[in-house]
Amino acid sequence: MIGSRPEAGAPFISFEGPEGAGKSTQIARLVARLEERSVPHTVTREPGGTPLGTRVREVLLDPDLSIDPLPEFLLYSASRAQLVTHVIRPALTQGHTVICDRYFDSSLAYQGAGRGLPVRLLRDLTREATGGLTPDLTVLLDLDPALGLQRVASRGQADRLERADLGFHQRVRQGFLDLAAAEPGRFLVLDATRSVDELAREIWTAVERWLPCTSSSP
Ligand SMILES: Nc1ncnc2c1ncn2[C@@H]1O[C@H](COP(=O)(O)OP(=O)(O)OP(=O)(O)O)[C@@H](O)[C@H]1O
Ligand SMILES: [Mg+2]
Repeated sequence: MIGSRPEAGAPFISFEGPEGAGKSTQIARLVARLEERSVPHTVTREPGGTPLGTRVREVLLDPDLSIDPLPEFLLYSASRAQLVTHVIRPALTQGHTVICDRYFDSSLAYQGAGRGLPVRLLRDLTREATGGLTPDLTVLLDLDPALGLQRVASRGQADRLERADLGFHQRVRQGFLDLAAAEPGRFLVLDATRSVDELAREIWTAVERWLPCTSSSP
């Protein structure tokens, strides 16, 4: 079952999916709901979320840089390690629901399935970088990458990852789906071609189960 109540504390929720799947859109909708209910929360993103992470993000998304798969993964891991220690764990300790726009599943999908780095290496280093911190709930917005890239094309200059070939993005999509299939208890997989409102409702239903003592009105 997805979203059974945790033993204690506020939940850690990650959003995953290919470029343009609607992660930022759905996070904004979820945050609006949490604000309505006065649920204390912290929203962050990868790469980014800390001064170091923000600098690393600029490097990773720079369309003029060529970055090999291993250094690419290490850069994501550097941002992630800093984020877990300085933002995510402190927020959870304070009782905040934490929402993260991408987390380690993105590395497994992009650098593992997409770039072909060995999954064992990725998992070992990720465990070190995160201290084993795993989301309680991961919302996977699944979308044909061609459609996702079309959705974001209107944003202007494509970043380094948006410029990668479609075969890469198709492997990433399949990588996410394989991760979800392996951990059905953590993942909520949604068809991202559905309407924003419908998706927001379904995500809220899943998230609400994790929240300590909220009212259950729609
Ligand atoms: N369910 C939906 N149906 C149709 N269009 C959508 C839907 N959700 C989001 N969009 C549109 O798709 C575009 C990309 O959405 P959004 O920025 O939320 O995706 P994202 O997953 O955060 O992308 P990125 O991976 O680049 O951060 C936006 O123009 C948004 O309005
Ligand atoms: Mg986004």
